[in-house]
Amino acid sequence: MAITGHQPNFTMFDGDYDYLIKFLALGDSGVGKTSFLYQYTDGKFNTKFITTVGIDFREKRVVYRSNGPDGIAGRGQRVHMQLWDTAGQERLDSIFVNRGITCCMCFFLGQLQIHAYCENPDIVMCGNKCDLEDQRVVKEEDAKEFAEKYGIPYFETSAAEGINVHKAVETLLDLIMKRMERCVDKSWIPQGVLRSNGHSSTEQLTEDKEKNKCGC
Ligand code: GTP
Ligand code: MG
Repeated sequence: MAITGHQPNFTMFDGDYDYLIKFLALGDSGVGKTSFLYQYTDGKFNTKFITTVGIDFREKRVVYRSNGPDGIAGRGQRVHMQLWDTAGQERLDSIFVNRGITCCMCFFLGQLQIHAYCENPDIVMCGNKCDLEDQRVVKEEDAKEFAEKYGIPYFETSAAEGINVHKAVETLLDLIMKRMERCVDKSWIPQGVLRSNGHSSTEQLTEDKEKNKCGC
């Protein structure tokens, strides 16, 4: 898998979904990782701060469609997303190696830092709590400049108000799916998807899974 320098950890199934993709939310304690994921999977927000102990994950099903240059969407790929939620203090090297994470979302509060625990992960960076403009500690232009330097998409997000939450996750999913198209035998991918270089869209499947606790 790419995170550890091997092939991406895409798992294809004949069953009720086509891909299992694992996402990871990283960032200091209190930046809003759990809230962001809760907003993404359940559309809800909790003002109470309950710090994550260890590691947890949420799940969601989406249908990924990659739009071709002609604007015609390819066949939908059913994606089962595992969104791993870390505690701010978690040791990241062991998470990447042991859980087969494919890509990650980096959050920041006062300090911009990216640790290179893998060769070439797909990353999006989120400056969360953008609804609290009066308490801002990182200027938007500084964050953008940093992200651009590393070629990382950057979003100002609010888990509280749902601002850019779906957009950030969908951008990350788009990156990973496009990388997959480049990696796997393309013979099975529909023509519309193969020729794609445009934007993607996702739609939620009828039932999202309830929050699951990690058995570790
Ligand atoms: P750890 O689990 O300790 O690593 O923290 P975390 O990054 O998961 O933070 P969490 O999601 O628990 O949020 C911390 C606090 O910030 C909570 O009180 C949330 O309600 C609040 N919060 C999170 N996101 C936002 C946001 O976008 N806007 C506002 N106003 N508050 C937020
Ligand atoms: Mg948390």
